[in-house]
Amino acid sequence: MFNPEKFVNRKIKELQEDIKGKAIIACSGGVDSTVAAVLVYRAIGKRLLTVFVDTGLMRKNERQRVEKVFKKMGLNYGIVDASQEFLGALKGIIEPEQKRKIIGAKFIEVFERIAENFGAEYLVQGTIAPDWIESGGGLRETIKSHHNVGGLPENMNLKLVEPLRDLYKDEVRKIATYFDLETKERQPFPGPGLAIRILGEVTEERLKIVREANAIVEEEVERAYPFEERPWQYFAVLLPIRSVGVHGDKRAYGYTIAIRMVESLDGMTAAYFKAGHVVLEQIASRITTEIKDVNRVVYDITNKPPATIEWE
Ligand code: XMP
Repeated sequence: MFNPEKFVNRKIKELQEDIKGKAIIACSGGVDSTVAAVLVYRAIGKRLLTVFVDTGLMRKNERQRVEKVFKKMGLNYGIVDASQEFLGALKGIIEPEQKRKIIGAKFIEVFERIAENFGAEYLVQGTIAPDWIESGGGLRETIKSHHNVGGLPENMNLKLVEPLRDLYKDEVRKIATYFDLETKERQPFPGPGLAIRILGEVTEERLKIVREANAIVEEEVERAYPFEERPWQYFAVLLPIRSVGVHGDKRAYGYTIAIRMVESLDGMTAAYFKAGHVVLEQIASRITTEIKDVNRVVYDITNKPPATIEWE
């Protein structure tokens, strides 16, 4: 049986011996990177800087949620608002793979700058066993470049520290509980964020729309289904297609929002979620009343394969 307390105590000693200077970690707020940050912080204190890069491509209230966790854990942290930089780099870009590459490169650029300013010599990552076991397999990488933002290159001239490298998810979750961190599984969220949930060009206006629509989807699904019955992922996608509608007694010409909900075990294959019509109607009705620029909502009923989970 895995004993989180023993593991933590042993790791803290090891980390204290191994890390001689300053260290830095990019933390998305996910369970792996948060556990890694807390663990290393307990070993070396303020010599670890935990950084959350706000790309401007996050879900509603994500930054506030993450900051609350950092505060609760007493971390030495920085929140860097790089949203204008990301938006600028994405201007005019419509091709999905190009979006991913630009976001990945921008993330590295921003993070390198912070690491240099802090004088970090070590890079901490929340890699767990399946991350590196899978990445040797090859298959996963062929369809889309799953550039995991936060997956930083090794040529950064920083020494890599991966304290969770030999652990599996359930073990990491046990440590999280031991640290009194929220461990309830959140749905997976892609590194490139909302940028790949806006088909076509990413603009501030479109980000605002898809972010609001997504928050409505999350709220309504979470209201309609208890945790165990929820789909694996449920989110909104903005289609850059306008169609005609009526708003009040005026003709409207607004965007379309597609709702995607899937059941899956690992994301490799997925079945569309047979959502109830009541919840779907509620989502459609809220999106079209609360978001001025949307007048049509459609539900994606394709499986993976042939479709992928994300639209880009
Ligand atoms: P697809 O769209 O390939 O997605 O069927 C499979 C799973 O991977 C997530 N996904 C990503 N995760 N960086 C990530 O960290 C990415 O670039 C990325 N693209 C897709 C997707 O949300 C789904 O869970």
